[in-house]
Amino acid sequence: MVEAVDGAHEAVVWKVEPHSSVAEADDFDRSSWQLDHPRFKIERRLSFEERSFSDLSITGNLRPVDSYGSMHSFGAVPTPTSPAWSPFELPPMVNEAWDALRKSVVFFRGQPVGTVAAVDHASGEVLNYDQVFVRDFVPSALAFLMTGEHEIVKNFLLKTIHLQSLEKKIDQFKLGEGVMPASFKVNNNPTRKTETLMADFGESAIGRVAPVDSGFWWIILLRAYTKSTGDLSLSETPECQNGMRLILSLCLSEGFDTFPTLLCADGCSMIDRRMGVYGYPIEIQALFFMALRCALSMLKSDAKGKEFMERIMKRLHALGFHMRRYFWLDFQQLNDIYRYKTEEYSHTAVNKFNVIPDSIPDWIFDFMPCRGGYFVGNVSPARMDFRWFALGNCIAILSSLATPEQSDAIMDLIEERWEELVGEMPLKISYPALEGHEWRIVTGCDPKNTRWSYHNGGSWQFSLSLVLLWLLTAACIKTGRPQIARRAIELAENRLSKDGWPEYYDGKLGRYVGKQARKLQTWSIAAYLVAKMLLEDPSHLGMISLEEDKVKAPPMKRPASWTA
Ligand code: GLC
Repeated sequence: MVEAVDGAHEAVVWKVEPHSSVAEADDFDRSSWQLDHPRFKIERRLSFEERSFSDLSITGNLRPVDSYGSMHSFGAVPTPTSPAWSPFELPPMVNEAWDALRKSVVFFRGQPVGTVAAVDHASGEVLNYDQVFVRDFVPSALAFLMTGEHEIVKNFLLKTIHLQSLEKKIDQFKLGEGVMPASFKVNNNPTRKTETLMADFGESAIGRVAPVDSGFWWIILLRAYTKSTGDLSLSETPECQNGMRLILSLCLSEGFDTFPTLLCADGCSMIDRRMGVYGYPIEIQALFFMALRCALSMLKSDAKGKEFMERIMKRLHALGFHMRRYFWLDFQQLNDIYRYKTEEYSHTAVNKFNVIPDSIPDWIFDFMPCRGGYFVGNVSPARMDFRWFALGNCIAILSSLATPEQSDAIMDLIEERWEELVGEMPLKISYPALEGHEWRIVTGCDPKNTRWSYHNGGSWQFSLSLVLLWLLTAACIKTGRPQIARRAIELAENRLSKDGWPEYYDGKLGRYVGKQARKLQTWSIAAYLVAKMLLEDPSHLGMISLEEDKVKAPPMKRPASWTA
């Protein structure tokens, strides 16, 4: 843990001012939920391009109205109330979810700065679930942005970028400057009446791995904030510009790499335990691609920024090519790999990474439908991890790393293999599970990651992986298939609240509440709300989605890059 800024308590209560709503019809179906609740209409967020200049200054909907001296940093303090909705207009489950989300808000010196991972008081072992995780906060942040509650997101972005500047050491070893924390917590000192932020960059994490995904999520969230509010002033601050450059220098540096993908240790992302995803995991590559595109749209083209923009464009070009070509798997490609020759030398080699056909696992031959395809888990010399990972594939769609044809094919695959990938509780984080000897070798006999449980093998349903639901929803809307998301949300609704918003479910069909799942897991709650709001108003999608083609366009003028 690294300790940050100390200071006196100056707590304030935040109250939300109602703001005006700009309701507009859109082309998408309305769910029955909205038809039943005609007064419930989420404000259609204006995209950045639609905003007039006078809209660009952020006024914020939260304002301090009172002072108090609470020593609690979450839960017990009053939390903001929703600006646009009256609780009576919401379906009970949505209401319950908002209540739970607000109870998870963490305050630092009176300001809301994030949401705690889980508010499960019943669970004996707290571990680090009482912390604000960077990745876990993303769905919460999107839910807040969608209702116009920007301040908590802005505070979070500023506090975490501040933490980035701390010196990070694990034993005697110093980590790169740009590393962002996996999580942080507020420490109260009741005697001195002070609060401090304590961050974890991996030095306390199980397995001691630094989170590669945190910096990418931070950049993606900064863009979502900017896109949703139209407020350029935050991303243009020297702190944010410098923070982005530091994150980027970590992953754009030249070295021994022969691939444009990013080499990672196991456990450096959402799957934060050994699961055989070391190497070039799809989750990180897709987040990397998306973060590069987001950064490109926000970096100022001053001397320092320009240099980074050029490096980003070169990398995006190479990364896009590599991923679309070598990570993509469909029936045709599988058949080609099945017939690969090995030991090919020279530039003309077809089997560039020397994948041995005998290493293709049996399950894939039955699993691969004639219609559909996906980005495989990992590609490196003589190793192709054929497992399906949901997060990476959804981010690939949202970032347009996947071509329109590939995006369609991913959705086809989900439809064709609904039982395996969605089951009774959407949505599996990976498929299939590692079992027996393979589980022993690959996970190091991890008892939490036994077959069809937790991170292991596609049986994550809701869960940790509910976070994936918002990604799935967004991906479904982007490819024009909201009915897939609606079906998945309906499944979730049957159980989620009844089961106490668990972190994850176990079993081949995801029927059982996860063995070690926390209840009231915040990102399960927030993901549900985000999925609902996205379906209600797909114009929110612009916050977390990037259009195709613009990748190749050199961002000559900043405003043009914002149309991405
Ligand atoms: C678990 C998950 C990780 C998540 C954390 C907090 O460690 O594996 O992805 O961020 O819980 O919810």
